[in-house]
Parts: sequence; C-alpha cells; structure tokens
Amino acid sequence: MRAYRGHLLHIGGAPQLAQAGDHLVSVPDGVLVVDDDGVIAFSGAHERLPADMADAEVIDCRPGYLLPGFIDTHLHFPQTYCTDSYGGGQLLDWLQRCIFPAEAMLADPELAQRTARDFCRRRVEVGTTTALVFGSAFPDAQDALFTESLRTGLRTVSGRGIQTVGPEAAEPLLTDEATAIDLSAREIDRWHAADPLLQVALVPRFALSVTARTLAALGELYDSVRADGVYFHSHLSENLREIEAVRDSLGVSCYLDAYDGRIGGADAPTLLGRRSVLAHAVHCTDRELARLADTGTSISHCPTSQQFLGSGTMPWRRTTASGVTVALGSDVGAGDEWLMARVANDCFKVHISEPGAAGLSIPPAQLLFTATLAGARALDIEDRVGNLDAGKQADFLVVDPQRQRLLPELLERVAPEDADRLLFTLLLGIRETAIAQVYVQGRELTGE
Ligand code: GUN
Ligand code: ZN
Repeated sequence: MRAYRGHLLHIGGAPQLAQAGDHLVSVPDGVLVVDDDGVIAFSGAHERLPADMADAEVIDCRPGYLLPGFIDTHLHFPQTYCTDSYGGGQLLDWLQRCIFPAEAMLADPELAQRTARDFCRRRVEVGTTTALVFGSAFPDAQDALFTESLRTGLRTVSGRGIQTVGPEAAEPLLTDEATAIDLSAREIDRWHAADPLLQVALVPRFALSVTARTLAALGELYDSVRADGVYFHSHLSENLREIEAVRDSLGVSCYLDAYDGRIGGADAPTLLGRRSVLAHAVHCTDRELARLADTGTSISHCPTSQQFLGSGTMPWRRTTASGVTVALGSDVGAGDEWLMARVANDCFKVHISEPGAAGLSIPPAQLLFTATLAGARALDIEDRVGNLDAGKQADFLVVDPQRQRLLPELLERVAPEDADRLLFTLLLGIRETAIAQVYVQGRELTGE
C-alpha cells in the first residue's frame, strides 16, 4: 500500500452536470491510499487516515495537488503529427488536403510504430490516462497503438477508422464493405478486453465515408458484439457543408438517422447506445439530442477543434439540458492542443461568448466534471475511474505548481477554503509542465 499526500481535488460521487459544484471535493491536507491492486483504499483528510493504513509507505506530494487523470473522449491517433495542418478551408477541405494524405502514410509500419510511441508518450505528458481514440485505417498501425498503449500502461478504447467511399485523396484509406466488416471483427477478436485497460470500438470515420450498406452491416456486427462491451464511435453534425452532403448522399432527413438504422426509412439495427460516443454534435436538432439522450449515447464536445476548423459552437445550455452526457474531447489533430485542461479552458471561453441568453460562464466544477467524470460516464466505466473516490482505480495526476512559473503566486492569492476559485485557477491555468506524475491503476507512467 502507498499513501500519496497532497491536496485532493475532484468531483466526488456520481452527480449530474448541474450538481457538480455540490460534489467538488477539495481536501488541502489530503491523502490517497492505493492498495497493491491499484485500487483507492482511502481518499480524504490525512487526519482521518484509518489506523490500519497508517504504516503505508508515504509519498509526499505536497505542495502538489492530486487530480483524477484526464479523460479525452475523442482524439485521432493517425493525426499525431497533424496539429499544425493548414487546410485552406473548413472540415472537408482540411480532410482532403491535409488529413487523408497524412493518414495514408501510416501504411508504413515503421512510421506507424513511431507514431504509436509518440502518441502514447504525449498522452502521458498531458495526463490523459483514459482516451477514446479514433484509429488508423491500417490494422498494423492499430496493432502498434494497442501494443504501445499496453506497454505504457494507458487506458485506451480504439478502433480502426472505417472508410468505404471517399474522394481520390482518401483512396489509400478505403476498403470494400466486406473487408471493412472483417477487419473490425478481427480487431475485436484480437484486442477487445485483451487486457482490462484495452477495449475496441467500431469507428466509421463519418457518415460521408461509408455507404448505406456499410452502415447496415456495421449495425448487424454491432448487434452481435454490443453485449461484450464493444463501443461505437464516430463524428456527428460537425460542419454545415458536411451535414448537407450527408443528407444528399444518404437521403436521410437528419444526420443522426444514418447511425440509427434509419436510412431510406429502414428500421435496421441502431449503432446508438450507452457505449456509443459521437464527436461534435455542433448543429443537432432538438429531436436528435432527445434521441441521443434516450439511447444513452454521449457527445464528445471538442471546442478547441471547433474553433480551429470554424465548425461553429455547440450550444452548451441547449445540449446539456437535453439530458445527454457531454464529455470533453481534444480532437487532436483538428484540435491543436493535447492537454485537456487547455481544452477545458477553450470550453470556458467559447461558451461565455455564446450570444445572448445562450451564453454562460461555466462553473469550474462543471469544467472539471466534463474533463473527467463525464468522460468516464460517456465510456460507461464510471464504476472504475473518473474521480478519486475510494473503490475506484487509482488513475490520478500529481500537479506540482512549483514547476510552472507564476502558478504558485496565483495560487497564493486564493483563500485555501475557496475551492471553486482554487479549481478555476488551477484548471484554467496549468500547462503540462506542472504535471509532475501520472498514475494509472496505481502504476506510475513514464512514457519511456
Ligand atoms: N470528420 C471526419 N473525419 C474527421 C476528422 O478526422 N476530424 C474531424 N474533426 N472531423 C472529421
Ligand atoms: Zn475528430
């Protein structure tokens, strides 16, 4: 057993977004006791440490803060080197000019291996302990990702990016429909729950990159693996031109119908459910949001990316009021920032800037909730991760303010009992240099 001493800061329990403030836990002289299985045995004030844990080895992290590991519910492994891509336009131009050609290069196994390594290292540096990772088209690259994730000790859900139609630039990423289904089924066989830290998702790139037949076949495949906890992940209603093209190409009246077995008036198996996560949902109708909420499908909100590609702003109040779980995603490489605290910072800025009554100043506890516990809920692993409650797996970060110039001075000016203010300073202010240690299941990750 090990006892990590520091200032605990997390959203305890299992609140809804609106109640996150009441569940903000801030324990200045706190301790996190982690047992030999990597489970949190005690979380609370040092003076309340149970007597039978008093002889645990003490790791003194003071004056550091102990936060839950960040959960990134949407980022692209094959875009590890694409955060600087100038596409000369919005989503569809950027995909064709920059992203499809860059992703095609991962056919080279040596590059795929290097990318997997850099991707996992980068996640450790920024404290993203859990991620839903949009995968490469190439099975060898996915093997490299899962292997490297396991070696590094990260928690990863990922799946091969499926494309069965697309423009010329996407050609190297396409397969025929039967192959697409076969490769995903094989990926599930090989990697899904191969280790408790690894899970697989079915990942059609977006509704424009697959045919109606591919979506129908994916619905059938998903029906057969849903009970095993396989995920579904894609993009939804990110960009207005994209939405128009989806309506034209698939003949659906709303984008979500494409993933809901409802192309051409069909009543086919749905891809929605409690392990389904759709990125963006910037331009959804109320009916679409209600359907997401009804099916337990979650939204990965990616404000940094939405600014980078000029996609628009997901209406925060309307979307969260629908009852759908909204978690945070970096969307690297359209998001040019890996650190979820910086994505939360963008989240704060874009929603305070929404016009009129739609705008709001998101409370700090709700930002932390969205970057941690909401992600665990979206991934249906809230029983295991997302906060520092006893009984959960010890996925946590040590944030040492002394590693970042001016951060101690900012924190000094905050009254220690003012938890909201403290969290605001810390979450909106940290850069990755302040992240001193990263743990998953009690194991310290080094990214070496
Ligand atoms: N829609 C389809 N593919 C992509 C992608 O790679 N990034 C983003 N942001 N949106 C997409
Ligand atoms: Zn994306």
